[in-house]
Amino acid sequence: MRKAELGIVVIYLETLVTLVACLNQEGLYLYELKQSLDDPESRLSSWNPRDSTPCNWYGVTCTNTSVTALDLSDTNVGGPFPGGILCRLPNLSWVNLFNNSINETLTEEISLCGSLLHLDLSQNLLSGPLPRALPGLPRLRYLDLSGNNLSGPIPESYGSFPSLEVLSLVSNLLQGPIPPSLGNLTSLKMLNLSYNPFVPSLIPDTLGNLTNLQVLWLTQCNLVGLIPDTLGNLLHLQDLDLALNDLYGPIPPSIVRLTTLRQIELYNNSLSGDLPPGLGNLTNLRLLDASMNHLTGPIPHDLCSLPLESLNLYENRFQGTLPPSIANSPYLYELRLFGNRLSGPLPQNLGSNSPLRWLDLSSNQFWGPLPPTLCRMGALEELLVIYNLLSGDIPPTLATCQTLTRVRLGFNRFSGEVPSGIWGLPHVYLLELVDNSFSGSISRTIAGAGNLSLLILSKNNFSGPIPDEVGWLDNLVEFSAADNSFTGPLPDSIVNLAQLGILDFHNNRLSGVLPKGIRSWKKLNDLNLANNQIGGTIPEEIAALSVLNFLDLSRNRFSGRVPTGLQNLKLNQLNLSYNRLSGELPRMLAKDMYRSSFIGNPGLCVDLKGLCDGRGQEKSVGYVWLLRTIFVVATLVFFVGVVWFYFRYRNFRDAKRAIDKSKWTLMSFHKLGFSEDEILNCLDEDNVIGSGSSGKVYKVVLSSGEVVAVKKIWGGVKKEVESGDVEKGRVQDNAFDTEVETLGKIRHKNIVKLWCCCTTRDCKLLVYEYMPNGSLGDLLHGSKGGLLDWPTRYKIAVDAAEGLSYLHHDCVPPIVHRDVKSNNILLDGDFGARVADFGVAKAVETTPKGTKSMSVIAGSCGYIAPEYAYTLRVNEKSDIYSFGVVMLELVTGRRSVDPEFGEKDLVKWVCTTLDQKGVDHLIDSRLDSCFKEEICKAFNIGLMCTSPLPINRPSMRRVVKMLQEVGTENQTKPAKKDGKLSPYYYDDASDHGSVA
Ligand SMILES: *[C@@H]1O[C@H](CO)[C@@H](O)[C@H](O)[C@H]1NC(C)=O
Ligand SMILES: *[C@@H]1O[C@H](CO)[C@@H](O)[C@H](O)[C@H]1NC(C)=O
Repeated sequence: MRKAELGIVVIYLETLVTLVACLNQEGLYLYELKQSLDDPESRLSSWNPRDSTPCNWYGVTCTNTSVTALDLSDTNVGGPFPGGILCRLPNLSWVNLFNNSINETLTEEISLCGSLLHLDLSQNLLSGPLPRALPGLPRLRYLDLSGNNLSGPIPESYGSFPSLEVLSLVSNLLQGPIPPSLGNLTSLKMLNLSYNPFVPSLIPDTLGNLTNLQVLWLTQCNLVGLIPDTLGNLLHLQDLDLALNDLYGPIPPSIVRLTTLRQIELYNNSLSGDLPPGLGNLTNLRLLDASMNHLTGPIPHDLCSLPLESLNLYENRFQGTLPPSIANSPYLYELRLFGNRLSGPLPQNLGSNSPLRWLDLSSNQFWGPLPPTLCRMGALEELLVIYNLLSGDIPPTLATCQTLTRVRLGFNRFSGEVPSGIWGLPHVYLLELVDNSFSGSISRTIAGAGNLSLLILSKNNFSGPIPDEVGWLDNLVEFSAADNSFTGPLPDSIVNLAQLGILDFHNNRLSGVLPKGIRSWKKLNDLNLANNQIGGTIPEEIAALSVLNFLDLSRNRFSGRVPTGLQNLKLNQLNLSYNRLSGELPRMLAKDMYRSSFIGNPGLCVDLKGLCDGRGQEKSVGYVWLLRTIFVVATLVFFVGVVWFYFRYRNFRDAKRAIDKSKWTLMSFHKLGFSEDEILNCLDEDNVIGSGSSGKVYKVVLSSGEVVAVKKIWGGVKKEVESGDVEKGRVQDNAFDTEVETLGKIRHKNIVKLWCCCTTRDCKLLVYEYMPNGSLGDLLHGSKGGLLDWPTRYKIAVDAAEGLSYLHHDCVPPIVHRDVKSNNILLDGDFGARVADFGVAKAVETTPKGTKSMSVIAGSCGYIAPEYAYTLRVNEKSDIYSFGVVMLELVTGRRSVDPEFGEKDLVKWVCTTLDQKGVDHLIDSRLDSCFKEEICKAFNIGLMCTSPLPINRPSMRRVVKMLQEVGTENQTKPAKKDGKLSPYYYDDASDHGSVA
């Protein structure tokens, strides 16, 4: 057929179709529905009114041309639930609008949808009460309204759904108690009510009537009282999750009848008593987590024959022993029982039947030897048994356990020589043997321990020389070996340990002299060699250890003068007493307060009041002359250097000019006083000041004298991921565009300024204002943390809060930062704080959908809000949580995660410590106690922001206000406020509630 003919036929057919096909009635209803919905992504574009039936429309399913199912999940449609229209479709039985922006209240109209079997409106923006009439739907089997903002009580009538199998109301704002009438829903298989702020109520014992129930999920429902015995009637139950409530009393014995159980979660309650005997009947059990309770008594023996994958019983008050049969479980890979009162010997075949990876038995009263089989399957990574009464040797089998990373055997009664293989395990970064009776010497095999960062040997009977190979441990940060019998000199190689922060060998028998080149200990903070037999002079280069804080060389045989440079160090402790030092003291050390630092050195001029003063004057003249000479020489050197540099730089620049710059595109956001060429010419490795999660950062001094920071991101080729960050590659790919898009639009004094950005095909540059004081994280947790006094920290908190508040409340659309942490808060020359690193920030949708779910994990360890784990959603509240962590860092001076906290992060550690020891143990000891009142208030704000329930976290705007109140109070009313609460404790109850 020829083309023209074909055309005519087509036109003819089309006319025919328009004539014949007018949309059927159901189609007309759906078309009306389309018009009532907001469809920003035009996902309903296939809904064409010229079709005869809607059966080919997106999301529509028909049976015999009648619409039976509508699936518009994840389409981003918005607007109120169109019940009035939908319910006119007589055969519609299946409606799925999961993850959209359906808003406003769910009206009683829904009761007209008599055919509905399945209704999924989860993850939308519904608010208001649950419709009372919903149970009137005779056929409804599946109802999921999770992840909305529904409020009010669950109506009593919800016990009368005739055939409901799934009822899911997780993560709403439901308030009343859980109605006992739910026990009438005997067809129910799944009851999920977790994460609602119900009033404190009992678990209704009528729930025991739900004999078809497979999942009972009541996490964080404000449940109190006893677990009803009737739950033992739920003979099909597979998952029982009652965690994060305030249940008390025993675990009901009837629970052992539930042989179908796979998972029991009871953590964070106040349960007490014994674990019920007969738990061993639960042959399908995979996971039992009863941590953070008050359980007592032994672990039932039969428990251990179960195919457990993980047994978590920490921080309870279990007593009794660890039953030998635990070692038989073929799936056991994680066993954590720390912080209980378990005793007796460890099963000697532990680890022989399952690939044991993590073993934490710390803080119990176990005795006897370590089982030799712990690493038989070659999987053991963490062996943590500190604070027990264990004894005997380290089993030689562990010496070949290449998987080990953390070995903590401290505070036990171990003895004998450490097998030489243990010293050289390649992945171990923490080897802690402190406070045992180990003997023998450090083996030369330690050369192989390339990952070793913390080597803690103090309080043992080690002897012999320190092997030269120690100097090969590039990553060593702490080497503590006090209270042993080491002999010989410190090996010369020890000065190679550039990362070393602590070197503690006090109370040993070291001799010889200090090695040459100690100036390379750039990070050394703590040097304690007290009570040895080290001689020679104290080298003048000790003054080069700029971060040295603690210096104790007392009770040795040092002779000669006290190095003058010592007086320039910022030492908290200085002890050179009981040596053979002589001569005069450096002027600034010749003060009474240092008397005890120099006592016991007969040759030293320590008559501080008399003799030294006069001579000190004379000396200071010489001193000034010396200084002048140094100054003149330094100026000369500088000048020559500058000239040399200029010529070198010019050559370099010329060379670089050769690169074709035409490929660069420049996008600037401010008026610029520099060109991109100038920036490009300065990107030397010498200028690197840091590497962030998505690229290197350079400091560039421009010809105008202005300084900028340049972040270079290689387009998708090389990706550097900061350790500790939980980010996936996908975030990185978009990091650049996101950051540019976000920052370019923003102007705020507390947001780091982006001057411009340049792009080529393979390289991208972001030019920021330069922040001379670096990041809050580095400063606070580095050696200079002590310099940040409270007023400075307070100001940083206010600044950062204002920056975030601006993002959340003043930007349209609002911006969620998504990676708030102390390392992303930068400090200018006056310690003014600015929020930076928008690599993962994302503007909240223009639709009022404040809680859009993100498909990738973003955020950093220790800063991620707890709800993220179950909602996978990031919103402003997550930023507020992260900001709260920063507040806690400012108050405590601790990092967000720290090996010292064990399994906890800073927030959990703060809560436990607060409970057990009070606030005084939390406040950074480097802070001046006269600010205590303000610090406590700021601390409270930090606690509110890190509240586990997002709804209890104050908005950022509110945080700013509260912080400012702290500030004005300390200016206007220094007097104590006789126990009265400050205003923010009782107004604006919706912002915060639970934190007292
Ligand atoms: C509900 O959503 C629609 C469409 O997205 C919007 O126009 C309307 O303002 C929203 N209603 C409320 C109360 O937010
Ligand atoms: C449902 O349960 C409530 C309370 O448990 C009870 O009073 C009521 O009679 C029950 N209703 C039906 C229809 O069984």
